[in-house]
Amino acid sequence: MMSSRLLKRACLLLLVSSWLCSLSDAKRKTPPSPPPPPPPPSSSGLPVRAVCLGGWLVTEGWILPSLFDAIPNKDLLDGAQLQLKAVAAGAYLTAAGQDGAAAVVANRTQAAPSASETFKLWRINETTFNFRASSGRFVGAGSDGGAAVVAVAAAPGPSETFQVVRDDGDKSRVRIRAPNGHFLQVALGSNSVTTDYYGESTSWGDDDPSVFVVTKVLELQGEYQICNGYGTAKATPILRNHWSTYIVEDDFKFISASGLTAVRIPVGWWIASDPNPPAPYVGGSLQTLDNAFKWAEKYKLGVIIDLHAAPGSQNPWEHSSSRDGTQEWGTSDANIAETVQVIDFLASRYAKSPSLLAVELMNEPFAPRATLESLMKYYHDGYNAVRKYSSTAYVIMSNRLGPHDPTEFLQFANGFPRAVIDVHYYTVFNDLFNNLTVQQNIDFIKSNFSSELKKCHNTKWPSHLCGRMGG
Ligand SMILES: *[C@@H]1O[C@H](CO)[C@@H](O)[C@H](O)[C@H]1NC(C)=O
Ligand SMILES: *[C@@H]1O[C@H](CO)[C@@H](O)[C@H](O)[C@H]1NC(C)=O
Ligand SMILES: *[C@@H]1O[C@H](CO)[C@@H](O)[C@H](O)[C@H]1NC(C)=O
Ligand SMILES: *[C@@H]1O[C@H](CO)[C@@H](O)[C@H](O)[C@H]1NC(C)=O
Repeated sequence: MMSSRLLKRACLLLLVSSWLCSLSDAKRKTPPSPPPPPPPPSSSGLPVRAVCLGGWLVTEGWILPSLFDAIPNKDLLDGAQLQLKAVAAGAYLTAAGQDGAAAVVANRTQAAPSASETFKLWRINETTFNFRASSGRFVGAGSDGGAAVVAVAAAPGPSETFQVVRDDGDKSRVRIRAPNGHFLQVALGSNSVTTDYYGESTSWGDDDPSVFVVTKVLELQGEYQICNGYGTAKATPILRNHWSTYIVEDDFKFISASGLTAVRIPVGWWIASDPNPPAPYVGGSLQTLDNAFKWAEKYKLGVIIDLHAAPGSQNPWEHSSSRDGTQEWGTSDANIAETVQVIDFLASRYAKSPSLLAVELMNEPFAPRATLESLMKYYHDGYNAVRKYSSTAYVIMSNRLGPHDPTEFLQFANGFPRAVIDVHYYTVFNDLFNNLTVQQNIDFIKSNFSSELKKCHNTKWPSHLCGRMGG
């Protein structure tokens, strides 16, 4: 029962000592005929052929969207990017100013709003939100009737907290109640946004100065969104049920019987404070990881623990559990030290397991915001944290995504015995590959991705390993 489900979202991770590629089955429409017999393991245990168990302990909405279904106002989660057009004035709210005098006005009428007209949600509960402008500042309003609306606060408080009231007949129409209890309005012929629309109008007409039409231009569906969307109490049974049913012992049995040699398990930083992680995260995922190790030992699989979501988020995507797409990982020494502590915790807990194959220090740090300098400091310290407990586990250092030199970690990583560089190439998100056969996909990788990969191997460092994940 799991096989087609697993194959659908499978990503293969290979640790290779000579150039070798295989391809994910991610988009294969039908399950394969019986898997070929596994090749005899080499004495070094290489190559490793692993499948990534994504969407299990770190939520990625696209893998299992139904997990979000029972969240009230589930389209208004943390990090949703909204544009708000005042219908009567025909203008978008905009926070164009970058400085302390950042008035929120409604003077933009063009059809294609820009970043200044886009606000990120922070969800307080299903009806109450903060709005973050592209400057990073939060929209707020004083308590006077008609007070100015500005985007100046570095952190949200009561003055930055707004209630969203939706039109039941057309959910894209909203009124926004300001902290003073009155609704925002943009009077016809005015550019000003004021907090002085009194009363509880039930009209949602185009001539109503308090009505805004919402366009959502982006949303995130990660661990932060699911936990904060339900609220921790309601998210707890939902996630615990997901953890114990989405991947089960039979899956490990199947993976092993299929000739793979390892699993890669993405985890989030909050697992290190299980069972009482900080809000809004849910406790209990550590028990699931313990179970995974038991099953891996039983079916002779290696485990690659992959820190997929680092504190502060190392990339702007939902799978790093960013609240709103802001990427803060590595911007302070304290943050790097906190991340090393997570690695220390994981390495100390699992080093004695014969199944601990590797610790991946971080998934997909994104350049340029994740700097080479902060990553080298972290990879150095994270490597040493693993080595406190294990002399044999591989330590995986990820290449950056985004603009970067693909060889930037080669010389650095070579200084660490049993270090691996992880490079990611995706075909899964490109329709070009849908209709190719498996062999055509493999040929594509050999011809089109080879030059970068060869740089990992045609170097003066023969001991070097290079892992790749395709999906
Ligand atoms: C709109 O108002 C902002 C803030 O006062 C200002 O910076 C911007 O130039 C105005 N834009 C237009 C099109 O009037
Ligand atoms: C949401 O939060 C606001 C502000 O804390 C509170 O007044 C309101 O009652 C809450 N609503 C729900 C549905 O919990
Ligand atoms: C793949 O094949 C299907 C069926 O033949 C066709 O409808 C579709 O356009 C093809 N897609 C691409 C990306 O070539
Ligand atoms: C892949 O490589 C071939 C041969 O160099 C080239 O013709 C083709 O355009 C490449 N395809 C893509 C999608 O990069």
